[in-house]
Amino acid sequence: MTTFKKDIFGGAIIAVPGRGLKGEMTVPGDKSISHRAVMLGSIASGITEVTGFLEGEDNLSTIGAFRAMGIGIDLQKDSRIDAGNSGTTTRLITGLLSAQPFFSVITGDASLRKRPMKRVVEPLSLMGASISGRNNGNNLPLAISGRKLKGITCKTPIASAQLKSALMLAGIYAEGETVIEEPEKSRDHTERMLCLFGADVRTDKNSVSVRSTNELIGCKIEVPGDISSAAFFVVGAMISPASALLIRGVGVNLTRTGIIDVLRKMGGTVEVQNERVASGEPVADLLVKTSRLKGTEVSGAELLPAIDEFPIICVAAAFSEGTTRITGARELRVKESDRIAAMSEALSRVGVRNAELPDGIVIEGVGSASIKGGKIESHGDHRIAMSLAMAALRSDEGVEIDGASSVDVSFPGFFDQLKRVRVS
Ligand code: S3P
Repeated sequence: MTTFKKDIFGGAIIAVPGRGLKGEMTVPGDKSISHRAVMLGSIASGITEVTGFLEGEDNLSTIGAFRAMGIGIDLQKDSRIDAGNSGTTTRLITGLLSAQPFFSVITGDASLRKRPMKRVVEPLSLMGASISGRNNGNNLPLAISGRKLKGITCKTPIASAQLKSALMLAGIYAEGETVIEEPEKSRDHTERMLCLFGADVRTDKNSVSVRSTNELIGCKIEVPGDISSAAFFVVGAMISPASALLIRGVGVNLTRTGIIDVLRKMGGTVEVQNERVASGEPVADLLVKTSRLKGTEVSGAELLPAIDEFPIICVAAAFSEGTTRITGARELRVKESDRIAAMSEALSRVGVRNAELPDGIVIEGVGSASIKGGKIESHGDHRIAMSLAMAALRSDEGVEIDGASSVDVSFPGFFDQLKRVRVS
C-alpha cells in the first residue's frame, strides 16, 4: 500500500494515486464563520460559546489579534497585530479598529503584505477613519487611529464579503446608518451572525444596512463544516474511479454553494441531504459519487459563490471531457497567491494543457485518462496545495507538493483525512 511521504529536507509532501474516496467524514469548521465568531464574541457583552471552531492558522491569527488587544479591548492602549496569512482577519479588523478609542498597527506575512487594502481603507476614510499604510494606504502595515465615525451610503465596486463586513463592523459603532450596496451579493455570514448578537441589521437583495448598536449580547455559535474544505473531497471523489463519500455537517449557505452548481453543470453527482439550520446558517450532509465530468463555461457571477473554489474547479476541469473556460475571475489574482497563474503553472507541470487569460483560464480536460503527475509549487497557498493533492488521485506518478504545510491555514489534518478515506 502506498502512503504519503514527507520529504524531511524540503517539507514537500508526495500525494499518491488512489482508486476512490469511500466512507464518511466531516470537515473542519467554516473559516469565515469562525473568524466572525471570535470578532463578534470579543466585542459583545457576556460569554460567547463557540463549538466547531476552526483552529486553522488564519483563525488563530484572529484570536491573536484580540489577545493583543487584551480581548476586553480597553485594557491596552496601543495594539500591534500580526494577521499572518489572513486577509479576512486584516480587512474585517481594520473596520472594527477604525472606530475604537486607541491606536493599532496591523501587519502580516509576505503574501498578505502584497494584497490590496485600499478597497477597505478608502470607504472607511469616507466614514471619518484615520488609516495610513504603505503605498498610499494600499498595503500593510496599516496604522489606525481609532475615532468617532459617521455612517455612509456606499456602492462597492466589487462584490467582496471582506469589504462589506469591514464597513458593517465600522457601521455598528458609527453615528446614523451605514448602507452598503454590492454589484452582486457576496457571502452573508456577518449579517446573519450580527443578527444573532442582537444588532440592527437589514438586508434587501444586494444591499445591507446597519445602525449603531449600543450593545451586542454574547450567544452560542455552532460553526458548520466549511464547504470550501469539503469541496476538495467532493471533487476528489468525483474524479476517482470507485467513490461513494458522505461528508456530514457542511454549511450550505446559498452564498457559498456555487461549487455544487458548477459541478452539477459539469455532470457531477452530489446529493444534498438532511438539511437543517444551526446558528442561523443552513447545514447539510453531502453524498458524492464518481462522476463523468464534461467541460463547461464558468462566468464571474457563477464563480462568486465559489470564489475560493477556483483551484479545485480547475482540477475538476482537468479531468473532464472537453474544454472548460473560466472568465470574470480577476479577483483571483490578488488572493493568497495569484491563483490564476499558480493553477496554470501547476496544471502544466502535471501534464494538463491550459492557457491563462487575464481574468481566468482555459483548460483542456484529459477525459477518462489519467495525468502523469510531477512536482508542483504551492506558492504557500493552502488551496493550491489541497487541489493538487486531489489531482494526484488520478495520476500515474503522484504529485510532489512543495510548501504543503500551508494546508494548516484552513484545514489542519487534511492529509490524514485524505489517507483515511482514500482507497489504495
Ligand atoms: C471571505 C471573503 C472572500 C473569500 C475569503 C473569505 C470572508 O474574500 O475569498 O477567503 O470571510 O469574508 P473577498 O471578500 O476578498 O472576496
